[in-house]
Amino acid sequence: MVDIYSYFILLLISFISILFIRSYYASSLCKSRLLPSPLALPIIGHLHLLAPIPHQALHKLSTRYGPVFRFLLGSVPCVAVSSPEMAKEFLRTYEASFLDRPRNTTTVYLTYGSKDFMFAPYGSYWKLMKKLIMSELLNGRTLDLLLPVRQDEINRFMNMLSQNAKLGMPVDLKGELFKLTNNVISRMIVSERCSEDENEASNMMKLVTEITEISGRFNLADYIWFCKNLDLQGFGKRLKELHPLYDKLVERIIREHEEERRKKKDKDEVKDLLDILLNVSEDDSMELKVSRENIKAFILNLFVAGSDSSALTIEWGLAELINHPRVMKKATEEIDRVVGKNRILEESDIPNLPYLQAIVKETLRLHPTAPIIPRTSTEDCIVGGYHIPSKTTVFVNVWALGRDPENWKDPLEFNPERFEGSQVDVRGQHFQMLPFGSGRRMCPGMSLAMQIAQVALGAMLQCFEWKAGQHGDTARVDMKEGPGITLPRANPLVCIPVPRLHSLTVADLKFG
Ligand code: HEM
Repeated sequence: MVDIYSYFILLLISFISILFIRSYYASSLCKSRLLPSPLALPIIGHLHLLAPIPHQALHKLSTRYGPVFRFLLGSVPCVAVSSPEMAKEFLRTYEASFLDRPRNTTTVYLTYGSKDFMFAPYGSYWKLMKKLIMSELLNGRTLDLLLPVRQDEINRFMNMLSQNAKLGMPVDLKGELFKLTNNVISRMIVSERCSEDENEASNMMKLVTEITEISGRFNLADYIWFCKNLDLQGFGKRLKELHPLYDKLVERIIREHEEERRKKKDKDEVKDLLDILLNVSEDDSMELKVSRENIKAFILNLFVAGSDSSALTIEWGLAELINHPRVMKKATEEIDRVVGKNRILEESDIPNLPYLQAIVKETLRLHPTAPIIPRTSTEDCIVGGYHIPSKTTVFVNVWALGRDPENWKDPLEFNPERFEGSQVDVRGQHFQMLPFGSGRRMCPGMSLAMQIAQVALGAMLQCFEWKAGQHGDTARVDMKEGPGITLPRANPLVCIPVPRLHSLTVADLKFG
């Protein structure tokens, strides 16, 4: 009896949702052309078509429905964009209508009820923080000031590799690279390493890993109204456990900073980004108050946005090089020629290493570690002749742009030479390649991410040869992608490093 009753309710919901969807799009039709769309199922819309890896699924659908098509995540209207021309329309020509990001239950909960920067609506708070980021937090001067931190972390990473190389032991590169980028970001923000000890500090790393993972999952509660309070996937329970852990950790760090500041004579002396944020929050002349929760949410943004994406870029880059020994040889020859064999490559060498730069660009073209740019329309508008209603979620498929045969010759080939003599770069001006997005909301961590990726990959090539697999006997590594918002590898890269520069011992592994 219960079954028949549930079945009846589902039928009723399907019927009502079909009527709703038809009337919703019918109202759009009178103004302009309707975007093509696959057939939607009642209630879930096209949710079932997006598994297991959304950017791949959307790319496949775009080959059938075109470079811009509409779909429904449950009852949420969405548009997928997969060509450079259409990406330019949304992100540049009509940028003003697409400056917000879609929010979801997970991010709202973790960011103290949307007190963060990444998901803040385009308004006065976002503008204030953006100004602060560009003028103080992630600008060239602060990055220069914090250069010793990055060098020290790369040094430690290289020492760890060197120890393994000496023992002929395999390295879990996914885990170790994540530790490297997480430590760099952590020391720049709060002057603490995440992997200092096995207790509290390493909790930050575990938390960031879990938060990144949970933030990348589709939560049915966001798309299907009657699932809103059901917590069918258990996300609500996990969030309630994770959030207090993060809060306790970050509170402890803030209190210690405040204590130190009270003792300090020169209040303007800053040692990390948290110091700058605390200065701003105490400044009564600011037009808007930056609250403690704003700071805590922003720190989480930086950890989540910066750690995994940068680490995965290096992992994908090395995987491609293992599969392309010719490219690997050419890169090491360039490094040997420019840097020599008596010191390790450093950030100031990068401008003289164009082939290494091309390798990182080519890695980001094929493996953009933020494969989808999510935006939301804040008003009704007509883009490319199609009516896009207000509150439509737009997914710009960066992964698809980098593989578009109309814009890239042999798009699936890993060929850094394609960037030799080319003007195409990663700075959001060339829409065939947008690893860091474009326009006002593009990634503010781009310079930092590029520095870490280029230096770490370059130093790894300079100092070691790489034998893939637990036993170092895998000739070719597989390039399958796993699920997640940051493009993880399906099978994390494990390699045995073999010393290349025999003149350098572990103790010699120093910069300059
Ligand atoms: C390889 C590494 C990275 C990649 C591929 C990447 C990619 C992206 C992309 C595609 C966006 C969205 C841009 C848009 O909407 O147009 C973004 C936003 C953002 N990224 Fe990154 N990012 C990386 C590293 C970093 C780092 C190191 C940080 C800071 C420590 C960072 C902080 C942010 C923040 C705060 C935003 C939000 C900007 C806003 O909404 O205004 N990212 N990133």
